[in-house]
Amino acid sequence: MNYPYFFLEPTGISAGLDPEKFKNDFPILRKPVRGKKLVYLDNAATSQKPHTVIEAIRQYYLDSNANVHRGVHWLSEKATEAYEMARIKMQEFINADHADEIVFVRGSTEAINLVAQTYGRKEIGQGDEILITEMEHHSNIVPWQLLVEETGADLQVIHIDDNGELIREELREKLTEKTKLVAITHISNALGTVNPIREIIRSAHEVGARVLVDGAQAAPHLKIDVHDLDCDFYTLSGHKMYAPTGIGILYGKRELLQNMPPYQGGGEMITSVSLTGSSYAKPPYRFEAGTPNIEGAIGLGAAADYLNSIDFDTLSAHENEVLDYATDRLSAMDGLKIIGTSGHKAGIISFVIDSIHPHDVGTILDQAGIAVRTGHHCAMPIMERFQLPATTRVSLALYNTKDDIDSLVEGLKQVKEVFK
Ligand code: ALA
Repeated sequence: MNYPYFFLEPTGISAGLDPEKFKNDFPILRKPVRGKKLVYLDNAATSQKPHTVIEAIRQYYLDSNANVHRGVHWLSEKATEAYEMARIKMQEFINADHADEIVFVRGSTEAINLVAQTYGRKEIGQGDEILITEMEHHSNIVPWQLLVEETGADLQVIHIDDNGELIREELREKLTEKTKLVAITHISNALGTVNPIREIIRSAHEVGARVLVDGAQAAPHLKIDVHDLDCDFYTLSGHKMYAPTGIGILYGKRELLQNMPPYQGGGEMITSVSLTGSSYAKPPYRFEAGTPNIEGAIGLGAAADYLNSIDFDTLSAHENEVLDYATDRLSAMDGLKIIGTSGHKAGIISFVIDSIHPHDVGTILDQAGIAVRTGHHCAMPIMERFQLPATTRVSLALYNTKDDIDSLVEGLKQVKEVFK
């Protein structure tokens, strides 16, 4: 791969096995918070950004800023080249067969809404079923509720067991020839469960259903290979994989995207417009109305480069080691209960401690410079399943270390001290 100047060649600084070195790539991690060393454990909400991503955006604005696909002038050509190269980088990142299967969107939420409002409205009607799970983020529930209200289709749900795993028998019972679409998360944002999506995709295809995988939480942790998975749609959010906010992708199989009507109308998504009607561009442009998030796409491409500079097996091994260490240390604390105890987890631990409200836990940890998320994590059905109003959630990135977990445990001891 040749890197034009707006995509810095990854330095390889992180390619070694020393996890502490990852931290050097992320300038914000060196800044104190409340006078303390920052321990950032809220990566499932959003990850921090490496120097190469920040620099790619800075260089774009310094050297290449213009609108894309519109101008014949030099800067516009540069901007277009960078934007389209980012699309190819994302194609390679998820191993899609074609670059035109990559649609730039604001994030996973927009990607799912796009599929619901285009594919869903065209292909799913009365008597059809959409199958989701109890562990979905609201962004993979509400768009389907809106669709079934409009079309008269039926929304079916696979529930989860006490470990936070899908109940397989329900999958077998509820996946029928009525199922038109299965919409499922790859990794639960609230529990950390990694779903057996390969098996689910195969079963869904056997009954003729299409499958949308919400990969927002998976992209920073697992090697995504949509060709191998054979999923029909895959969505991801850039900001969870070290890229800026406001950018993500929808992957869709070429033949599906080609048959989907437009999502939003506007510039860029047409081939011609008259006052009596319009004709629409081919995918992916059909789905990219208006000036896109050019800097975001460039930042996303740079984030893909950054992740590609690290061997995914090395990355997973490191993250799993920290996850196992955190699980052991937290489980050993009196009064702490982990919510989500599947044997297949990545990057996320939710817990409750004594009867202390998670918001109090998060506030006291914050005083020690430790950032976690507390609340329902936009997954209220999971909270209902476990009969909890909220949990405290620790979510990991490649720069987290066992030292961060030791700081967390010390912070939680302080929490317990306050509420003794
Ligand atoms: N979906 C994000 C989270 O899980 C915001 O925190």
